Amino acid sequence: MDRLKNKVAIVFGAGPNIGGTIAHFLAREGARVCVTDVKEEAAAAAADFIRERGWEAFGMAGDARRDEDVGRIVAATVERYGRLDIVVNMAGRVHWDDVLNMKRDDWDDSVASFATAGLLATQHGARAMLACGARGSIIHVMSTAAHFGEADGASYCAAKAGLLNFARSAAMDLAHHGIRVNTITPCSMEHQLWTTMRDEMFDPNWVQPERRGFYSRQEYLDQLPLRRFPRAADLAWAAVFLASDESSCMTGSDMAVDAGLRHKYPTWTPGKHDPLDINDYARATRVTRYGEEQELLTELLGQPIDRS
Ligand SMILES: NC(=O)c1ccc[n+]([C@@H]2O[C@H](COP(=O)([O-])OP(=O)(O)OC[C@H]3O[C@@H](n4cnc5c(N)ncnc54)[C@H](O)[C@@H]3O)[C@@H](O)[C@H]2O)c1
Repeated sequence: MDRLKNKVAIVFGAGPNIGGTIAHFLAREGARVCVTDVKEEAAAAAADFIRERGWEAFGMAGDARRDEDVGRIVAATVERYGRLDIVVNMAGRVHWDDVLNMKRDDWDDSVASFATAGLLATQHGARAMLACGARGSIIHVMSTAAHFGEADGASYCAAKAGLLNFARSAAMDLAHHGIRVNTITPCSMEHQLWTTMRDEMFDPNWVQPERRGFYSRQEYLDQLPLRRFPRAADLAWAAVFLASDESSCMTGSDMAVDAGLRHKYPTWTPGKHDPLDINDYARATRVTRYGEEQELLTELLGQPIDRS
């Protein structure tokens, strides 16, 4: 429980899924954490959750795309806790559209909210680490979109791929200061089953009609060698490792937390040999917030769910 004792962290994008879970796990390992989000209530809820369990955190609202907001958040964290050792960034918004119809504003927002936010978190974070003499760790949460082309996902793919190679370059720039920059790549997460996909989660053949590049949940599950989706806690354990001195010889690297998806032979479909029904999978899924299991399925779906 003390892997991050005496360290101070900032998490950009602190909703109850990936960001809030990472913040929770960092705090549980002894870090004092600033949780920040463009939504004030999301930042406050994550900080309250952590403090209620006896760990140290405070929440701050701010837009990770804005230079002055990121500078203000970093300065407030250093003022409050006296140093900065860890920055975790995953803020951003996804816009789906094909190249022919893509709106320029959506493109700009994707690039600003993922790639530019990554630059600002790294730049302000590294300057603060240098000022306090910390050999810090900066972590960016990626997506398979950083590694593959996805129909209807050009702006998201471009933004995440840009952020990935930015992170590698920043790792080279900051290496001689002892500051490390690494990335974590999840594929589609288990919580997608009960958040964006919630109305369709019990329909294995569901395909979003307006999106040519989409696929059913069953098709996605069939591609996963470990026969499961990653959970926010899986990413949070990876973040704890990359934030800690246990990974002190790692920089510029990307950890795939994707049930083997990125490393499998593309035309091999594990589900053909090891079938698993998405209905059964979804029924067995436990909803988590900040990495803790909740009994919220009924509330989230707006109707009772038979999970027998
Ligand atoms: N959910 C998935 O299946 C999945 C898969 C691969 C990668 N990812 C990546 O993981 C990260 C988090 O995913 P999640 O599922 O927890 O998403 P989420 O939507 O639950 O959380 C994202 C949080 O970021 C905040 N945010 C958005 N724009 C912001 C900004 N400009 N400034 C500050 N905060 C901002 C949102 O308010 C939200 O609380 C994202 O970078 C996403 O691209 C998610």
